[in-house]
Amino acid sequence: MTNLKTSFAGLQLRNPIIVSSSGLTNSVDKNRKLCEAGAGAIVLKSLFEEQIMMEVDTMQESVYYPEGSDYLRESLKNHKLLEYLTLIEESKKVCSIPIIASINCFNDAEWVHFAQEIERAGADAIEINILALSATTEYEYGDFEQRHIDILRSVKKHVSIPVIMKLGFRFTNPVTLINQLYANGAAAVVLFNRFYQPDIDIEKMEHTTNNVFSHPQELSKSLRWIGISSSVVDKIDYAASGGVHSADDMIKAILSGASAVEICSTIYMNTNEYITVMIRFLGLWMIRKNFESIAQFKGRLKVKNVKGINTFERTQFLKYFNDYAIKPEYKE
Ligand SMILES: Cc1cc2nc3c(=O)[nH]c(=O)nc-3n(C[C@H](O)[C@H](O)[C@H](O)COP(=O)(O)O)c2cc1C
Repeated sequence: MTNLKTSFAGLQLRNPIIVSSSGLTNSVDKNRKLCEAGAGAIVLKSLFEEQIMMEVDTMQESVYYPEGSDYLRESLKNHKLLEYLTLIEESKKVCSIPIIASINCFNDAEWVHFAQEIERAGADAIEINILALSATTEYEYGDFEQRHIDILRSVKKHVSIPVIMKLGFRFTNPVTLINQLYANGAAAVVLFNRFYQPDIDIEKMEHTTNNVFSHPQELSKSLRWIGISSSVVDKIDYAASGGVHSADDMIKAILSGASAVEICSTIYMNTNEYITVMIRFLGLWMIRKNFESIAQFKGRLKVKNVKGINTFERTQFLKYFNDYAIKPEYKE
């Protein structure tokens, strides 16, 4: 009997597919349908610090009295918060799977209050997404990593539900950061968040955006870092995110050491039904390989367990330079 259940961040999931934070998860009805399609858990659309502060600042320009401005700031925050709390409460009523709230933040002080309310509203866990570019010279090396730890500590002081850290991929040493996050109480890490992709239109000579959705080729980053990190910091759970487009990709992530995958682009491109397809394929693959549970193959190809060539820790294309310096399709 094949059992697809997995444990992630202290949550019991019926299968490893988590729908990641996005427009796919911003309404109760969408969440109900994702649950019906078979998702193992749902991460709600993020509550954005930037978005709320922008609204507050725009409205403040028209407010003359400073005490009025303070009042406005508070009421707006509460309004946004209330919408989000309702999304959690109502989604919990119609979904039998874990509902994970998501906070996109950059400062610890402002958001701790929200985290507490989110727990009270019934979220099963909180995913923290600290995505920012250090685009000035005022930051010291390591400031950004420290910010993750500070925010995690603050949130942990106020909630008892599991806290999941969704990381960007621009860290010098992700293994050390993950180890510190584990030491400070993170239940899981998601590798990796995906930046908004800028581009330039050369005719209009304007900034534009491209590649809103990921490509399967992006998965190798997650495979590598989950394969390496889960060997060294093995007490924290991992989810792969970024380029998981098929059941094959999900299986690769689990073989690397992930307990679950967070998927988004593939659902946008293939509809909710693709969740059902992925689950069915996973089950059939497990039967074909004689696995009865996810635990039997999770981490089988992480760095610690790998036999033969360890490509996760290989950084140079040595083999290609030696054996295939001139590829057949290459013409000078
Ligand atoms: C339209 C869209 C909206 C997104 N909104 C959020 C968000 O609010 N919070 C967040 O943490 N990630 C957000 N993401 C990122 C996804 O959760 C995910 O990390 C990323 O798309 C990589 O996964 P994928 O390759 O399966 O698409 C968004 C992605 C897309 C495409």
